[in-house]
Amino acid sequence: MKKYYITTPIYYPSGKFHIGTAYTTVLADTLKRYKQLRGYDVFMLTGLDEHGQKVQAVAEKQGKTPQEHVDEMAQMAQDLWALMDIKYDHFMRTTAKWHEETVQKIFEYFLEKGDIYKGSYEGLYCMPCETYFTETQLVDGKCPDCGREVKLLKEEAYFFNMKKYADKLLKYYEEHPDFIQPENRKTEMINNFIKPGLEDLCVTRTSFDWGIKVKSDPKHVIYVWLDALTNYLTALGYMQPDDSLFKKYWPADIQIVGKDIARFHLIYWPIFLMALDLPLPKKILVHNWVMMKDGKMSKSFGNIVYPEKLINRYGLDATKYYLLRMSLISQDGIYSPEDFVERYNSDLCNDLGNLVNRTISMVNKYFSGIVPEYNGMKNEVDKEFEEFTNNKLKRVEQLIENFDISNGLQELWTIISRTNKYIDETRPWELSKNGETEKLKSSIYHLIENIRKIGIMLIPFMTDTAKNLLRQIGVPENLQTWESLEKYDGLKNIKVIEKGEPLFMRKDIEEELEYLKN
Ligand code: MSP
Repeated sequence: MKKYYITTPIYYPSGKFHIGTAYTTVLADTLKRYKQLRGYDVFMLTGLDEHGQKVQAVAEKQGKTPQEHVDEMAQMAQDLWALMDIKYDHFMRTTAKWHEETVQKIFEYFLEKGDIYKGSYEGLYCMPCETYFTETQLVDGKCPDCGREVKLLKEEAYFFNMKKYADKLLKYYEEHPDFIQPENRKTEMINNFIKPGLEDLCVTRTSFDWGIKVKSDPKHVIYVWLDALTNYLTALGYMQPDDSLFKKYWPADIQIVGKDIARFHLIYWPIFLMALDLPLPKKILVHNWVMMKDGKMSKSFGNIVYPEKLINRYGLDATKYYLLRMSLISQDGIYSPEDFVERYNSDLCNDLGNLVNRTISMVNKYFSGIVPEYNGMKNEVDKEFEEFTNNKLKRVEQLIENFDISNGLQELWTIISRTNKYIDETRPWELSKNGETEKLKSSIYHLIENIRKIGIMLIPFMTDTAKNLLRQIGVPENLQTWESLEKYDGLKNIKVIEKGEPLFMRKDIEEELEYLKN
């Protein structure tokens, strides 16, 4: 079986996750479900990034030890992923003993090799991002990543010799055009960071101690990014006595990251891997952000939307649908309660839910619930309808294969709309009234067949809804496969449910906006 390794970033334990942070993981989970449906053996990794000054400060503020704090946060994260039915295979925590040991070994190895050297650092430091910047990297004198104030700091420190690898990295980018997606992220790295001259990276801190200590010089704590990035390897047992998962799954097939952490994953991470002589991931997918109308989601603006708020009222699938439908690969997506309710009512209740319900009731009314056999004769409308569907199915598949989930869903919804239109074109109620039985059979058969295909394609995105839909039209579990999109002859004489169960309940807009108010 072909293997597939997907990673999300490991999250900072700084508080509850909002819908923006949940996005990366929902996307990874969707890809996992899709790949599994295509027959891959998938390993998906997520977890918590537990070290660093920020974590220590948050714990202190709450009167807890850092370990107590991260333990609580790890539980919080896992509870949320359970609620969101995220099918990760391992939840990595950077306080795991074996991770700490491996990071120490890697550090010593880099020291020995001369990739890490000791020096002293004076620079402009962004506390929240735990990153040093040069004067030229600042934007309006502030941190280029988060926009906050930076402070001048000096400390004895170890450095990673990034310069040594800069040309090799550029060459790698050039020779592997699929490595970074989308392309403009690569251009950004080259123009903003590599071409102007890659600075060596300070990889230790002495100003706090909540981190992994340098084995040979324990007053230094290893920089949180060197620690955190390594999790993608340690999670698989790299450098451990049992490294079978590592041997099986590395290199990763896709690593998904948000735009704010692109630089760490597109520059430092590949360089660390080169220094370890390891193959690089096949792809790093960088997505944009979920924003609010008034800008970033943040505690200080009081505009945070938590996934629980949406899930508890509209269900998991509606929440996931909305997030995935937001176009986040090439641009930021704007969440608004109006848009959420509108999509819920129009896309899910009207387009999808009504289609399924109307069709099931027609199968019951005209054929006592048994999908009719039809004689294979197609008129122009049927031909056009089949062709449209098949072309669009291919398009959806291409888009998913290209990780363009938002457009994939959009295209899938054109099939749903087209299927609704087919009802109006064929007017089964008139066919029944006029006794045009063969035409009626063809219409109902085509409708059920399309709903079946829609159901199969929905499995990776909205698994429960898809399974519910397929159950209602009588498609057995063992025939719910991607291959069945191309070839399926199981429809003959299957029985649909007697009374369709609504997939989504229509909502009153005013009431919902009241509920969704922060
Ligand atoms: N701890 C680092 C990652 C280390 S990986 C070796 C980190 N953690 S984070 O909790 O801040 O972010 C986790 C993920 O959530 C990142 O991919 C980040 O881009 C993403 N998002 C945070 N806010 C987001 C939105 N508003 N919208 C979409 N994604 C967002 O970074």
